[in-house]
Formats: sequence, C-alpha cells, structure tokens
Amino acid sequence: MNLEELKSVVERIRAETQTHLGQLSSLERVQELEARILGRKGRLTELLSTITTFPKEQRGQVGQMLNVAKNELTEWIEDCRQRLQKSEAMIDRQSAAGIDPTFPGIVRGFGSIHPVTAVQWKIEEVFERLGFTVEAGPEMENDYYNFETLNIPAWHPARDMQDTFWLDNGLLLRTHTSPVQVRAMEKYGPPLRCIVPGRCFRYETIDASHENTFFQCEGLMIDKNISIANLIAVMKLLLREVFHRDVMIRLRPGYFPFVEPGFELDMRCMICGGTGCSTCKQSGWVEILPCGMVHPNVLRFGGIDPHEFTGFAFGLGLTRLAMMKYGVRDIRLMNSGDLRGLVHAERMCGNIIGKS
Ligand code: PHE
Repeated sequence: MNLEELKSVVERIRAETQTHLGQLSSLERVQELEARILGRKGRLTELLSTITTFPKEQRGQVGQMLNVAKNELTEWIEDCRQRLQKSEAMIDRQSAAGIDPTFPGIVRGFGSIHPVTAVQWKIEEVFERLGFTVEAGPEMENDYYNFETLNIPAWHPARDMQDTFWLDNGLLLRTHTSPVQVRAMEKYGPPLRCIVPGRCFRYETIDASHENTFFQCEGLMIDKNISIANLIAVMKLLLREVFHRDVMIRLRPGYFPFVEPGFELDMRCMICGGTGCSTCKQSGWVEILPCGMVHPNVLRFGGIDPHEFTGFAFGLGLTRLAMMKYGVRDIRLMNSGDLRGLVHAERMCGNIIGKS
C-alpha cells in the first residue's frame, strides 16, 4: 500500500464510522463499532501496524495522519456513547415512574366541531324528520325584512328592543333570523315549514352573558288550523331530542310585534336541575326560546291570507342552547377560539353526534 492508497482507506473508515454512529441506538452497538475500528484487531489499529512497511522518510507523515484519525474517531465514539447513556438513563427513569416511552402516542384529530354547529346539526336533523326545510338568508339585511315586514314600522318603539349595527350603505346586520320569515313566505307560499339557523348581530357591550355576535335558529310553520298546541308539541319534541330526556317547560306571555299571542318559553335549568344557580339567576328556569303565533300583518306581508292560514314562529337562541347543553357559563368562550373550551366541548360533542 502506498501513501495515497492509505489516505483513501483512512478517509473511507472515517466516513463509514460517521454514518454508523448516526444510526446506532444502543450502547452495545457502540462498543462493537469501537472494537471493529480501534480494538486490538480493529481496522485503524491494523493500519497503524503497517507503518514499518512504508519507506523511512514517509513514516512520520503516516504516523501523524493515523493518529489524527484515531483521535478524531475516539472523540466521535465517545460523544455518541454519552448521548446514548443520557437517553437510556431517561428511559430508565420513565419506566421507573411507570411511563413506557415506546408506547404509541395518542392520535389527535385535526380540529373539532364547534358546540354551536353540533347543536345546529342536531336541530336540523330533528326538523328535517318533521318535514321542515332548512333555509338561509343574508346576514347583511335591509330594513324592510329585518323590521318592516315583521310589523315593526320605523316609528315603532320595539326597534329599540334590538340595538342595531347600521351600515354605511343603508343596510344593517340582521339582529335576528326573523327576516327570513317573510322571505320564505315569498319563496314558497303556504303551507310552509322551515327552520333558519344563522348568525345574528346586536350592538351590545360584551360580558359573560352578552355577545354582539351569536347564533339563532328561526322556526316557522304555516298551514290551516295551526295552533299553540302544535307549537308546544314541536318545542317539547325538540328539547327532548337535544337533551336526551323530557325537559320541563313553561310559557309566559312575551311581547314581540310579529307574533300574537307571543310567549317566552322557559325550560328547567339543566345546570342546577331547578334548585337555583347563577346561570338561572336562582330562579330554576332559563329563558330559552321566544315564540308565538305569526301576526296577521306578517302573513299579509308574505302574501298569505291570515283568514285561511295560521302559523307559529320561534326564535331559538342556538348559542344559548349550546351553552346550556355543555354547561358553558361564559358566552365569550363561544367565539373566542379558546381551545380549552373547544376541546372540552369536543368531548361532549362526541356524545350528541354519537347518539344522534
Ligand atoms: N326574533 C326574535 C328575537 O330575536 C325572537 C322571536 C322569533 C320571537 C320568533 C318570536 C317569534 O328576539
């Protein structure tokens, strides 16, 4: 072997050792590798014994080259040994603590269904079974559908009941899903059954129980001989499906210009079971749903003869219902994207989606 050949052999040993060290995962393998290179019969050790076969004037150079390589390889092997010692010590500590680091991790899904969406889907499913269609309307509405056709003329004090975001273009952000009532009447004519889940906006200061952006679900059923009994039956069915048990309800008179008579429908508080808590303000009841019989003026705006047809309407607070269902006490959590809230809700959503 001449000097050039020796150089390339040393270079090959360096490269191969480097590659092997990167792949080793146990101290035994490091030991074996060290023996193969630097041991008594190791590749580099054998090269060192060839020094005497070189001409005298080259021996100094050969010795120096081999020693540099030896030191370098020794250092690499030592580094690798220390790295593995550290991680083996960690594994020992973990298994002493009852943790198996080789056990496959928990696979997390990407994202989850928002609690409001989950409740919305459930409601859509229940109403579709009852022959209702699911409608949508614009979030940017005009005065005509948001107020006028709902029996709330410009001078009407009821306009102050809903603080409105007015837009520069003369339109507004709908304050409820009710504008779709007359839109649906115009689209389908009577008889008519639909629900309208959607986002609504009010010019409100935000706190634990008020949001400027929230979800409602309008309901509308128009036919011959529709009565309050139909309204109550449908509402009880809905709440039973959402909460998977019979829910106690009560009706109180409530004023909305577009229904007559109008009601506030309350349900027994799901959080305290009726004994009184902060959610139900110690009353044991939670206002869940304003509703009533569609006002004759609204039917007329929709081109329907109120002497021939009657109907009921309700405006379910979807956000509020989702909070009741999942025990969320602060409405701000619902739009926050806060994963602590959403992950919690995700587990619960598993329940309702699974059961539906
Ligand atoms: N639109 C009303 C509101 O948002 C609720 C409602 C709907 C009341 C339908 C009666 C009938 O306050």
